[in-house]
Amino acid sequence: MTRDQAVSLWRQWNNDDSLWRHALSVEAAMRHFARKYGEDEEYWGLVGLLHDIDYQKFPEEHLKHAREILAPAGYSDSFIRSIESHGWGICSEVEPQQVMERVLFATDELTGFIAACAYVRPSHSVLDMEVKSVKKKWGSAAFAAGVRRDIIERGAGMLGMPLEELIGETILALRSVADDIGLKGNL
Ligand SMILES: [Fe+2]
Ligand SMILES: [Fe+2]
Repeated sequence: MTRDQAVSLWRQWNNDDSLWRHALSVEAAMRHFARKYGEDEEYWGLVGLLHDIDYQKFPEEHLKHAREILAPAGYSDSFIRSIESHGWGICSEVEPQQVMERVLFATDELTGFIAACAYVRPSHSVLDMEVKSVKKKWGSAAFAAGVRRDIIERGAGMLGMPLEELIGETILALRSVADDIGLKGNL
């Protein structure tokens, strides 16, 4: 499957700009970590791009419809399983097992949290953001209240990666697509 095919499948089921920026953010994170682990960057990227494929149409039944969308489009069982695993303990019974699945689980919420942190910076940018500015907001329950820190921490734990490192690597990933995801700010 090519990235162009994945993008057109995404567009068949979604048209929301913020969901698109989220898809691109998670794709960038997956590509970044694939490079770091020496794994298949294209494959990991597609998993990231399509991980929320059924969310806009079925927000109350998220991931219950991923298979019926992805299987007819030619995506494999293991590809679909990986996507289903990002909702583990939230809206799915499928546990992340491969490193790739654990990265997806850990970075899904984190990309949103980093974006929220970027918006409140003077630069509105991820380009000059450091780990410590994200950590500063971490314990503030009122800030980005919808983001489940516990999920991100569980993901970092599954990867055996310190939270600081997970945040730092994900910031680097998002810098690579800063313009496309609206996080270039005024820099
Ligand atoms: Fe999701
Ligand atoms: Fe997501």
